Amino acid sequence: MEMKEISSVAVLGAGTMGANIALSFAAHGIQVHLMDVSPKQLERGISTIRENAVQLLEHGLLTEEVDHIIARVTFVAALETAIAGVGLVLEVVPEIIEIKEQLFRKLESMTGPEVILASNTSTFVPSRLCSAFAHAETAGRFVVLHYWNPAHLIPLVEVVPHTKTAPTILRTVKAMLDCCDKQAVVLQKEIPGFLGNRLAFALQREAMRMVADGVAMPDDIDTVVRGGFGRRMPVTGIFGTADFGGLDVYLAVCDQVFPSLCNDSAAPDILKRLVNSGRLGMKTREGWSKYSECDIAEWQRRVTDDLVHFARSDLRREQGTPHPRSDR
Ligand SMILES: NC(=O)c1ccc[n+]([C@@H]2O[C@H](COP(=O)([O-])OP(=O)(O)OC[C@H]3O[C@@H](n4cnc5c(N)ncnc54)[C@H](O)[C@@H]3O)[C@@H](O)[C@H]2O)c1
Repeated sequence: MEMKEISSVAVLGAGTMGANIALSFAAHGIQVHLMDVSPKQLERGISTIRENAVQLLEHGLLTEEVDHIIARVTFVAALETAIAGVGLVLEVVPEIIEIKEQLFRKLESMTGPEVILASNTSTFVPSRLCSAFAHAETAGRFVVLHYWNPAHLIPLVEVVPHTKTAPTILRTVKAMLDCCDKQAVVLQKEIPGFLGNRLAFALQREAMRMVADGVAMPDDIDTVVRGGFGRRMPVTGIFGTADFGGLDVYLAVCDQVFPSLCNDSAAPDILKRLVNSGRLGMKTREGWSKYSECDIAEWQRRVTDDLVHFARSDLRREQGTPHPRSDR
């Protein structure tokens, strides 16, 4: 397949991820067909896109009027209509293997070999999803594009190829993501959790172990992250942090700390107890902490404010303008 420019995409699933992914495409000039099997979810997707586009405009993160952006999104209920004439189909349906497999089997038979098939899965590696295809060559036009929530504000997209994914497909999706101002990282090979969730869950595992062992309370651990290494991490990353501190020091710390780090291969009992007792986090008002409705609203406001702040810093850096401290 020749490398080509993607000017229109189908986004299948208008939930938490799909609506904001559609906004990210539309805000960068790409036509989107947003499809959902649930009319209610499609309605919700439409209002999410409008609300978030207004927010981006208010913060100087859009170069066009909201109506121009929304005009690029067609909201459709039928799969046939959604995939008509597009260069890429992105599956963003629930993380249930049977639903994804059934959809990819249909997509394989309903699309031509020139159409790229992609999944926003968080947990299924490409080889697992490609096993749904009837023809081995379909894997050549398949790739995982793992966006992060909220997809219109988080720049990272992990691009995970199957061993058979054609190099032209990778170049095409990379060029498309560059056009959307995304930071695309192409993995050299598939691995469960990709890069981001592996790193994030290594921290989760250790944090839960320390709580279970009575070393510290969840709030104290979060303070260590927010006020300590988490504060510089957006600037220094993992390997930059090590180079910044000195690799000789890091070697000594590895030798000292690695033997006592958690290496459990199953979820810990402390987490299972919370889940089994219905304490699922903010959605049930209690998880590692308790939350009032006000706490949750304040949390959401702060997360959005900070993500907008980071997006504005990125934009300023691209434009080469200075970084005022009071820009919120
Ligand atoms: N939520 C996150 O933080 C996050 C982050 C990264 C990746 N993901 C991945 O993105 C995918 C979607 O997650 P989500 O959180 O947006 O889920 P969601 O439940 O909010 O949305 C999924 C949508 O898909 C629709 N749907 C179901 N079957 C469909 C079908 N056959 N065709 C079209 N639409 C269909 C549902 O009606 C729903 O609106 C999952 O694979 C998930 O692992 C989620």
